[in-house]
Amino acid sequence: MDLTHVEDDLELDQTLFTEEQIVSRLKEMAADIERDYEGKDILLVGVLKGAVMVMADLARSLDRHVEMDWMAVSSYGSGTKSSGVVRILKDLDTDLQGRHVLIVEDIIDTGLTLSWLITNLRSRGPASVEIATLLRKPEAQQMEVEVKYVGFDIPNAFVVGYGLDYNEQYRNLRCIGTLSPHVYS
Ligand code: PRP
Repeated sequence: MDLTHVEDDLELDQTLFTEEQIVSRLKEMAADIERDYEGKDILLVGVLKGAVMVMADLARSLDRHVEMDWMAVSSYGSGTKSSGVVRILKDLDTDLQGRHVLIVEDIIDTGLTLSWLITNLRSRGPASVEIATLLRKPEAQQMEVEVKYVGFDIPNAFVVGYGLDYNEQYRNLRCIGTLSPHVYS
């Protein structure tokens, strides 16, 4: 779906990344990853569901072999991330012993999910665990998470598209935009 179908739902004067800008930034990140992991295998771990688009484009920008696996997690409680306690809905199929793991995320908001996930994956004996995220909201971050690859730092706004949802919608929007308050209030 392109922007023309949801223009009325977005604040067009605020954060907006076109599909071209996103793909171009992911190519730059892929080049950094190729350089840093030269001579090492890579296991990309995508965090469902938001990271699906990032994983698809980042992985295809890597001009080398990679493996991919997926996790689905959910925070306990009322649907907010405030507890920082995360439940695994779908675990990895891959044994991480000795592997170089690169977690692929669409967004780091409070940082609670990633903070928990990195501790969890590090306990499984990998050679390394790093994070690549397309978006990061520095103002919203509650937990210090060391992120090796960041696409864009963005303001603390409600962004949707390119995997990011509101009520499970907008994930298939090609670009990323700021949702207008009239949609969710
Ligand atoms: C989003 C995103 C991260 C998490 C980041 O997932 O994909 O996993 O929130 O938030 P945090 O930094 O505050 O922990 P969400 O739980 O919305 O699920 P989804 O990927 O299925 O949309």
